[in-house]
Amino acid sequence: MSKGKVTWKSPSNIAIVKYWGKFGNQLPKNTSISFTLENAHSITTLTWTPASMENPVGVSFLFEGHQNLTFENRIQKFIAGIQETYFPFLKDYFLFFESSNSFPHSSGIASSASGMSAIALCLCSMEQVLTGNLSNEQEFFHKASVIARLGSGSASRSVFPIMALWGEHPDISGSSNEFAIPFSENIHPVFNTFHDDILIISHKEKSVSSTAGHHLMKGNPFAEARYQQANNRIKQITQILKQGEIDAFGLMAEAEALTLHALMMCSEPSYMLMEPASLIVIKKIQQFRKETKLPVYFTLDAGPNIHILYPGSEEKTINTWISQELTPHCAGGKIIRDKVGKGPIKI
Ligand code: PMV
Repeated sequence: MSKGKVTWKSPSNIAIVKYWGKFGNQLPKNTSISFTLENAHSITTLTWTPASMENPVGVSFLFEGHQNLTFENRIQKFIAGIQETYFPFLKDYFLFFESSNSFPHSSGIASSASGMSAIALCLCSMEQVLTGNLSNEQEFFHKASVIARLGSGSASRSVFPIMALWGEHPDISGSSNEFAIPFSENIHPVFNTFHDDILIISHKEKSVSSTAGHHLMKGNPFAEARYQQANNRIKQITQILKQGEIDAFGLMAEAEALTLHALMMCSEPSYMLMEPASLIVIKKIQQFRKETKLPVYFTLDAGPNIHILYPGSEEKTINTWISQELTPHCAGGKIIRDKVGKGPIKI
């Protein structure tokens, strides 16, 4: 038994075909696919110490240098739930996590995806150091994806570079509800260059959490049709990605974002996470695309912020337009310039 420390930087991701609705122990009602991001990330350090009188078995969590009891309780519960099955050695250790994000949490950017994937990666590294297991890279990231999923479904996709797919699909061999699979081998290279500029429309905490949103799908009268639609869209998008059809890709990203928010609006009770500025920006993007014929599209997560998607070849023109036309609609003029990323790194 020895003391040790590991740090992982793990990215957020943006779903193109969205996961919305779950069952059992964090299993998705439909398949989803996402871009892994580069700049929106969490950096998490895990220090483990053999339990003693002064440091009894337990978990402590510091977020951005401060104790955050909401996060700490969530992590403690998460670890208690996975310990026996996945990391039995944890019963002899005190775990100290310190984590920070490169973006505001609970504002619709998937902070749980980067945060939970970073924690999962740290735990897998701890296992590797203490037991010698998981020395095979594929095995390592596979387990990290399973563990990340148990923390937050979308986090399962953050452990792979470029693109990842999560959820069993009859047409995709190796796909599973339990873990995500890397998808970068199956896409046209133009998608490796994609940018995702995140317009921060509001920093405020979401009024309805994703957990509550997934739960509301249980009573949503359109739920079954939605799951079917998502799985059909996965079938279409795999072809679109392979062929490099940018317009079809972008239009599907937009349709998915609007479907997600429509599902929220027709939940019982109904709720809305878009803000007036979200709609203004969406209309401006569509108008700009119509006028210029440039390949620029939007998507949204479960929040008001707008992710602008476009290929790297258009960076200059689109950046200038965003700065001039869209910055005034952002809270404090804030935009996170992001792009498709290479996946997590141990630092
Ligand atoms: O992983 P969760 O429980 O935070 O759910 C995330 C759901 C969406 O971000 C809206 C869609 C997705 O697939 O990431």
